[in-house]
Amino acid sequence: MSTKYGIWNNKGGVGKSTITYHVASTFAAQNPDKNVLVIDLCPQANVSMMLLGGGVQGENAVLNFCTEAVPRTVVGYLSEVLSGGERAPLPDPMNFVTRVRDVNPHMTENLYLLSGDGNLEPMAPAITRAADAPPLTPASKPWRWVHEVFRRLIDNLENNDSWHVFVDTNPSFSIYTELAISSCDKLIVPVNADDSSRVATNAMFILLHGTNPPHPVYGSWTFAARAQQNGVSIPKVHLIVGNRLTSYDGVAGAFEALSAATADTLFVNYRTHPGRFTQRNGSAGSVAAFRALFSVPLRDFNTAGVMSAHLGMRIDQMKQSVYQAHGQNVHVKAEQLREAKTAINKVIAAL
Ligand SMILES: Nc1ncnc2c1ncn2[C@@H]1O[C@H](COP(=O)(O)OP(=O)(O)OP(=O)(O)O)[C@@H](O)[C@H]1O
Ligand SMILES: [Mg+2]
Repeated sequence: MSTKYGIWNNKGGVGKSTITYHVASTFAAQNPDKNVLVIDLCPQANVSMMLLGGGVQGENAVLNFCTEAVPRTVVGYLSEVLSGGERAPLPDPMNFVTRVRDVNPHMTENLYLLSGDGNLEPMAPAITRAADAPPLTPASKPWRWVHEVFRRLIDNLENNDSWHVFVDTNPSFSIYTELAISSCDKLIVPVNADDSSRVATNAMFILLHGTNPPHPVYGSWTFAARAQQNGVSIPKVHLIVGNRLTSYDGVAGAFEALSAATADTLFVNYRTHPGRFTQRNGSAGSVAAFRALFSVPLRDFNTAGVMSAHLGMRIDQMKQSVYQAHGQNVHVKAEQLREAKTAINKVIAAL
């Protein structure tokens, strides 16, 4: 089976798209025998733009895909499947997936993208209606069928074992975020060191698993309740990425990866519900052991990371040089490149 990661935190701006971009593109370059697919289920389409060349080039490439009669995007695929109905044969995923290198020569041959699309936003009510449609036959399960649409796309890829899939998400818990969550098995959760990250971590477990006891009114409406009723599997927390924590506390070392409060919240969940986390060799009996098993720090990328995303060039391809961004000269130093490369490799090693 393919390996399916979702990069999700129900909080905006924590680094989901940036991490997806660096990790997926570098993982593909390091593993030429594997295939890597990025599915961009955020209507901002940030990771698609970075992968397709960054800056204005990336933006135009996404726009071109979105404006095709049958968009070569998540929206095109969803439209095709939903309009066909539950019994129609599935379209070939490769009619919608792009080999990134065909657009951006900096990327390796084994990296593919199902592009994001701003029309996901206006399409959301139609997706919800399809999921909430009454089942017309005993075998029909519209909610499950709609929620697993991208899981089926992944499972339909040829040579399935070779695929590593990274799904980027939107911070709001929209219907398309539910589809993203339902398509993957392992969650990569970026967190920052602030208090709202701790709150968001709690919210994440409530969205995935509901509250105990459930709310008497809203409890049955939740994604958690409906996923359970419909037999849709909930992904497990696999890796917590403490993003840019050094810019907050300036401390180096293995245990800087999470702020103490966020780590405590996660650890309490782990103690009470270990099944919400992926399996590890051995279990964690303390917060420190939990951090060592489940989290990794990601330092601030500085100029190197910003330019890598802007140019759609992997950090490991860049050299100490002066690069152009919006008509400005930007100096990227060898030391910055080395630090950023090491940081990305650490996250990949922790996968
Ligand atoms: N490790 C890092 N070092 C430097 N800058 C970073 C790092 N991680 C993220 N950023 C910057 O922080 C900003 C937000 O990152 P990003 O867009 O990846 O977050 P996001 O979680 O995808 O946001 P959204 O919720 O809007 O989708 C971007 O400008 C990005 O360049
Ligand atoms: Mg994003």
